Formats: sequence, structure tokens, C-alpha cells
Amino acid sequence: MNDVKVLISEQVIAKRVKALGEQITKDYETKAAKPPKPIVCIGVLKGAFVFFADLIRHIELPLTLDFVGVSSYGNNLASSQKPTITFAPSTTITNQHVIVVEDIVDTGITLEFLLKHFKAQKPASLKLCILLRKDLGKPLKVKVDYLGFEIDNLFVVGYGLDAAERYRNLPYIGKLT
Ligand code: IMP
Ligand code: MG
Repeated sequence: MNDVKVLISEQVIAKRVKALGEQITKDYETKAAKPPKPIVCIGVLKGAFVFFADLIRHIELPLTLDFVGVSSYGNNLASSQKPTITFAPSTTITNQHVIVVEDIVDTGITLEFLLKHFKAQKPASLKLCILLRKDLGKPLKVKVDYLGFEIDNLFVVGYGLDAAERYRNLPYIGKLT
């Protein structure tokens, strides 16, 4: 697409996602084995769906998965700062090891809201795996346990991420020109 400039190529994303899956496998091997609790991976719709699909195939442990829908931006490029749950997972996460998988963290408002929501259900553990983090240096109220890439303060699209619902199908991460 000629209105998008490639920032992170398909190959670079694939390598990093594989490494994240391997790291999660290593970290959860003991947890998942004793006591025998499966991991529950929860992908945040819609943006994380491509990353989520690739990531889970690199986690070599028993797991179940679900999705949560949260909207905070609507179709605007600026945050409205009021996240709402648009799709609730049906999985009971109480006493489970939960990994929330999200596409990008900017202000952290979306994740802060989601973590509070999930923590109230008393999971055995709750970790965050994020593909992209914007604007490093800005303090975040949430702890990102697994991070794909740090990027500059740009609006990015592709690999699941959209601008007004477009560009999710691009295999790379790019910026609008
Ligand atoms: P935060 O609440 O400010 O951290 O924003 C995070 C949410 O906004 C994510 O769930 C994304 O869906 C969306 N978002 C933030 N930055 C971008 C971007 O550059 N491209 C596409 N979506 C973005
Ligand atoms: Mg989104």
C-alpha cells in the first residue's frame, strides 16, 4: 500500500514473536506443571488478534484462550480516555494463570482498566504481553511483563492494528504517510 511506510517488517516481527513465545514457555513451564493449572491467554480485540494468533503457536504448553473486547479510541486517532468492555470473555479466570495479550500501549489507560477488571476476578497470576510500546520514558501505571518492540510516538497500522478499521491485514507494521 503506497500510503503506508514499513516500520517493522514481517520477518522482524516473526522473529520477535517467536522469541516472546519461547520466553513465556520457559517462564511458565514450572507454573503450568505444578500445580497443574493451564494458562489462559486473553487477546484484546480487535488489534491484538494477529499477534495473538502468532504468539500462541510459539507457546509450547497446555493453554486455553479467550478474547476481551475493549474500545477506548472509537474511530478517532486520539484517545477518548474512557475504555468500555465491548466483548466479555466466557472463561472463568479465578485461580488461573492469565496472560493478557495486547497490540500496543500508549497512555496505558486501556490496560490499566483491563487489569483492574481482571484482577477483581482473582486469577492465580496476571501478566501482560504487549507487541508495541509507544513513547518510552513516559511513566506507565501498568507493568509490561513481555514486550515486542519500543517505538516512537507515531500512529502505526498493520499486523492487526487499524486506523479507522483499515490496514489490519497488512503483514508488517507501518506508519501512515
Ligand atoms: P492507551 O489506552 O492510550 O494505552 O491506548 C491503547 C489502545 O489504543 C490500544 O488498544 C490500541 O488499540 C489503540 N492504539 C494506540 N496507539 C495506536 C496506534 O498507533 N495504532 C493503532 N491503534 C493504536
Ligand atoms: Mg485497538
